[in-house]
Amino acid sequence: MSKVTVVGAGNVGATCANVLLFNEVANQIVLLDIKEGLAEGKALDMTQTASLLGFDSVIKGATNDYLATADSDVVIITSGIPRTPGMTREELIGVNAGIVKGVVSNVLKYSPNAILVIVSNPMDTMTYLTLKSTGLPKNHVIGMGGALDSSRFKAYLSQALDANPNEVEGLVIGGHGDTTMIPLTRFATYKGLPVASILSAEKLDKVVADTMVGGATLTALLKTSAWYAPGAAASYLVESILKNQKKVIPCCVYLEGEYGQNDICIGVPVVVGRNGWEKIIDYKLDAKEQELFEKSADAVRKTNNILEN
Ligand code: LAC
Repeated sequence: MSKVTVVGAGNVGATCANVLLFNEVANQIVLLDIKEGLAEGKALDMTQTASLLGFDSVIKGATNDYLATADSDVVIITSGIPRTPGMTREELIGVNAGIVKGVVSNVLKYSPNAILVIVSNPMDTMTYLTLKSTGLPKNHVIGMGGALDSSRFKAYLSQALDANPNEVEGLVIGGHGDTTMIPLTRFATYKGLPVASILSAEKLDKVVADTMVGGATLTALLKTSAWYAPGAAASYLVESILKNQKKVIPCCVYLEGEYGQNDICIGVPVVVGRNGWEKIIDYKLDAKEQELFEKSADAVRKTNNILEN
């Protein structure tokens, strides 16, 4: 038996719960929100799709009742406000830091051993805040950004290659920000072939640029931030945890010297399994990639410092 809680029944949280349910990632899913009836309503709606979609997992909604979340194996935090057009993720920090801190402390009262997956923005700083404010083991706190950014990278790559997205590999490391994420083109492949040997430099540059502003492009179209890919990315991560799949997924984790950084949560490729993030994979960045990573870390640290002031 496995139990997952999704905190926040907004677009991202509800989509994540729906993907978890449909894919039977956990036996039991709890969707929690502060807005009276919202989580219950969405959970009930999803429950009524069971015989249509053929899943056996169950979902329950709850309004601010953390007792309902007790003994969760994994808790996904999507709480807070999303960005609107023209806004950066970093600008959300003032509002979202307080919300995330409160949610995490309530969650841990009932599920002290849960692995926490952080989705709320600015995601890198929220992951750092969660780790620092709780003292949880570092492997139990995972920020989701790199999973999402990598899936956007693969989507743009597959379009440029006219290829099946499932046959394209690509990793995005660094911060989850429009200017801080680093699509690693040198390691991107199509069935083992380096994409740089297939796509022109201009095409590859465009893929990188589109990936970096992937979230902002959607925010401009939707007038709020995206939810299908963010929700699915969180579910993908949770599946690797609960089924101990040991997938290598770029995630925001606490670094202690790896990739040349200390005391920061930022995206690097990690093995994800039943113990949370289990191991960091060292891709041995070249000088240019390392420089980009350092710049990215500086920017994330700047946002982290706002927390202290
Ligand atoms: C995005 C938000 C969820 O990238 O950060 O769409």
